[in-house]
Amino acid sequence: MTRPVLVLFGATGDLATRMLFPSLAALERDGLLPDDLRIIAASRSEMSAEAFREHLAAEVSHPSGLPGGALDRLCERTHYLGFNATNPDEMGALRDLIGASSDRLFYLSTSPSLYGPISKALKTAGLITPTSRIVLEKPIGKDLASSHAVNAAVSEAFFERQIFRVDHYLGKETVQNLLALRFANTIFEPLWNSRSIDHVQITVAETLGVEDRWDYYDDYGALRDMVQNHILQLVCLLAMEPPARFDPESVRNEKVKVLRSLRPISPDMIDTHTVRGQYGAGVSDGAAVRGYAQEGGRDSLTETFVALRAEVDNWRWAGVPFFIRTGKRLAERRTEIVVQFRELPHSIFGPSQLLPPNQLVIHLQPKEGVSLTLMNKRPGLSSEAMPLEQLALDLLLNDSGNPNRAVRRIAYERLMLDALAGNSTLFVRRDEVEAAWDWIDPIIAGWKAQRIGPKSYASGSWGPGSAFALIAGVGRNWRE
Ligand code: BG6
Repeated sequence: MTRPVLVLFGATGDLATRMLFPSLAALERDGLLPDDLRIIAASRSEMSAEAFREHLAAEVSHPSGLPGGALDRLCERTHYLGFNATNPDEMGALRDLIGASSDRLFYLSTSPSLYGPISKALKTAGLITPTSRIVLEKPIGKDLASSHAVNAAVSEAFFERQIFRVDHYLGKETVQNLLALRFANTIFEPLWNSRSIDHVQITVAETLGVEDRWDYYDDYGALRDMVQNHILQLVCLLAMEPPARFDPESVRNEKVKVLRSLRPISPDMIDTHTVRGQYGAGVSDGAAVRGYAQEGGRDSLTETFVALRAEVDNWRWAGVPFFIRTGKRLAERRTEIVVQFRELPHSIFGPSQLLPPNQLVIHLQPKEGVSLTLMNKRPGLSSEAMPLEQLALDLLLNDSGNPNRAVRRIAYERLMLDALAGNSTLFVRRDEVEAAWDWIDPIIAGWKAQRIGPKSYASGSWGPGSAFALIAGVGRNWRE
């Protein structure tokens, strides 16, 4: 057995500092890292080992704390290496550090433009063993053609089974719980189809603006930044058929079928099925904030909000719209999925009783859990024969009163652990990324061809009015 080694490229960057080292430190704290794991923190900057440790000590924190010298222990197994990883001639020092170890995990927390060049340099330097893996962050491309080019460049050096593409939503506890909800319970499956479900809503609302990522974001926009990856992954987990087994290929085979069943949004559907928005000035979390264009110091046609009506054209979902909305600077931070069941076929309680349909609400963040709304008889006597009210069965997993509440985790902890163990179930396969772009590209092309710019919405609101019209136009409403 050789000692496993994790080589983290881009080790002084934002993602590594905010997410990857905090995740590693929490795994260290909880004794979950392989005892003999060595970490090589690689970056272009010349920096002494001591300066890198000081950087980690000053910058790395975790929402559930890092007591007990976790960071010190992590530093002990970490070696800093400053070099240009795109140059095979500079790989000598890395080769020496890796030594005979054949269990190599290369984690690229760099600009995606370096994925191809670094893979190539690793290959040229002969550093890729049959058991090596490479982890890539999003974005993989900006459209189908560019994602194809990135994937093709990496696959010159690594086999697909060695490539682990991160979608950090898949590392979230609540997102994995979707799989448990659907495939570890018998009661939902008979109802999980167009006979019982009227529609599905997915809301990913953030109160933050684009912060210091304006230039990156302006090139991407909400559709590429959130829908192409995170939200379509949620659609997949909700809509997929039960996989034969919980293994990487079985799960991903089912997910990609969902992506391929998405009805393309053709030019004549752009108006009725899509909405673009951009935040203007307003009030967010109680403070006055500037609009997106003001933040960037120039006008922009990039959307910071998008609402879509998607249709999954297969036997299970035909006729069930999936409404999606996501945006920055919205009224609250809330990520949730609402599965709305059909109306009663007939009410025996007469026309005066309102009987809202049942909803299964899957709370992903910040609330975590599941609620099922049910109609109940309002307790007590009254002159009405059968007074009814809607109540919810709540399973709130992060409620402070819940004894089963889990320690707060960063999504990357699960993904890091799985990548170290070589389990790619929660990583995205090439055909998924490409099928997702295949669905996204025509929307962007439609906006461009029809010159559809983003509609302004006030920061702190729920997005442009047309997002309400998109769903109200087909007789439904967003859950507020
Ligand atoms: C990232 C996007 O992938 O996900 C960001 O680039 C977004 O724009 C973030 O804010 C949202 O992640 P989370 O975990 O906060 O919901």
